[in-house]
Amino acid sequence: MVERDFRVRNEVFDESTIRVLDKFRHEYFEDLEHCISTGKEANIFRATTKDGFVAVKIFRTYTTSFERMAKYIEGDPRFARVKKSRHSLVYLWCRKEFKNLSKAASIGINVPKVYVFRKNVLVMELIGENGCPAPMLKDVTLDNYQEWYDEIIAIMVKLYKGDLVHADLSEFNILVFKSRPVIIDMAQSVLVEHPEALNFLKKDLYNVNAYFLKKKCKIKSWEEFKKLIF
Ligand SMILES: Nc1ncnc2c1ncn2[C@@H]1O[C@H](COP(=O)(O)OP(=O)(O)OP(=O)(O)O)[C@@H](O)[C@H]1O
Ligand SMILES: [Mg+2]
Repeated sequence: MVERDFRVRNEVFDESTIRVLDKFRHEYFEDLEHCISTGKEANIFRATTKDGFVAVKIFRTYTTSFERMAKYIEGDPRFARVKKSRHSLVYLWCRKEFKNLSKAASIGINVPKVYVFRKNVLVMELIGENGCPAPMLKDVTLDNYQEWYDEIIAIMVKLYKGDLVHADLSEFNILVFKSRPVIIDMAQSVLVEHPEALNFLKKDLYNVNAYFLKKKCKIKSWEEFKKLIF
């Protein structure tokens, strides 16, 4: 094993994380297999179950930007009274992703189904066929970009009307599965009453627009978009 693999292993699998995984084993999955992705703040693993696979997102406790997290947590009334140590912030981040994905699902947004979370570990549906993770929007070629753009705008509107702003929406956090978009990565998502919600929403629109503009789509300005939500 190369040195970097060792480092990642030790950063992800600290004692407390191993205890959580042991607790989940046999109830939510059987074996934790390989890492599907190493992101900014978490590693996603594939795990087997009795009849298929699940995705296990493990938030790293030591290699995360706490300054970045604070911006999304402060101002969210759901998490106002949480003490802000390094561990508790990461646990909060995990809980926040669980809650946001559940809420998004409850208003009819296509997101991975969440099963359980504890501390820094979240178990959810693995989006993909036969355990093979679905590709990100950025890695596929579509033949109807305008329809996709319109659908993603409709998703943003639906999220907003359901009280949520994704706050990191882009071609990286949209998977393409069965010719439909699946929205992922909602730890940073905020309620519309968050003081920065509109700024986050504006940034989401900017990122989505930048991608679809390259695909020659007719895009909506912020002014046009606002008319859809207010
Ligand atoms: N439920 C899932 N099913 C299939 N693939 C997934 C799932 N969740 C995450 N992935 C894959 O793992 C990648 C990283 O997941 P996610 O964006 O949630 O983590 P992150 O740490 O925030 O990563 P990043 O910093 O890259 O945004 C995704 O881009 C996707 O390819
Ligand atoms: Mg992501």
